[in-house]
Amino acid sequence: MSTTEITSDSSDKPLLEVHQLAKAFGNLNVFDNLSFQMGPREVLGVIGPNGAGKTTLINVLSGQLAASSGTVLLDRDPISRLPFHARARKGMIRSFQHTNIFSEESVSENLSRAKRFSSSTHTDEDGARSLLDSFGLSDKLDHPAVDLPYGLQKMLGLVMVYITGPRVLLLDEPAAGLESRERILVDQFVETALDRLSCGILIVEHDMDMVRRLCPRLIVLDDGQILAEGDTADVLRRREVIEAYLGVTEEKTDAEG
Ligand SMILES: Nc1ncnc2c1ncn2[C@@H]1O[C@H](COP(=O)(O)OP(=O)(O)OP(=O)(O)O)[C@@H](O)[C@H]1O
Ligand SMILES: [Mg+2]
Repeated sequence: MSTTEITSDSSDKPLLEVHQLAKAFGNLNVFDNLSFQMGPREVLGVIGPNGAGKTTLINVLSGQLAASSGTVLLDRDPISRLPFHARARKGMIRSFQHTNIFSEESVSENLSRAKRFSSSTHTDEDGARSLLDSFGLSDKLDHPAVDLPYGLQKMLGLVMVYITGPRVLLLDEPAAGLESRERILVDQFVETALDRLSCGILIVEHDMDMVRRLCPRLIVLDDGQILAEGDTADVLRRREVIEAYLGVTEEKTDAEG
């Protein structure tokens, strides 16, 4: 970990409150009765086996999918009935497990699109520029996004969510598909977002080293429920968490390189 100390600020006024959230697809109950909170400048990890419902949770929080029941509040403001675009304007912004870029467009056109999507009140172009510099994207602004290596496409996706000026960032597997040496760029992104935007960040990840580095607090989803929640090191030591998830995951991460 570098300069920024990432701390759990859950004692602050909650930024994101989730009450008894449920999502079903027909007869398939993906999750049920999920309740948790996240504070400003907090990084909350969410882990769970494949198919546990992590991406669906992000889809429901961001408004891309309607919840079956339950309530979501952003800054004490109920947003559960708002569509995706309206939530984004309030600063609820998600990234994608794969990428969220427009492949045929240039890097700068992608960034302009993201800016147009933003709430505009919180945008931080200086921060976005410094991220572009650190990621090696500043001299590629005219390149079609599709020509960038996969790692850079993912980093562009992160700058695109950054430039909208999020209040709550929902990151779906930011490290997936990245080489080990690229993964540290995700840490840098998270530190910058905390420092400059003071947002709350929910990170879904299978990379346990990253989860340990970035997330002081952790939720484990399993079988549609919160199996464990609390201090990350404590949670990762619990027998039920190891049995439900950890053995399988470390293998999967190794296989992915
Ligand atoms: N649009 C949909 N319609 C029907 N079922 C869906 C839909 N989206 C997801 N599911 C199902 O919901 C469950 C949870 O999927 P989800 O993608 O949220 O898992 P995940 O925890 O993100 O998994 P992974 O770690 O593999 O990314 C799975 O059984 C999946 O097949
Ligand atoms: Mg997923």
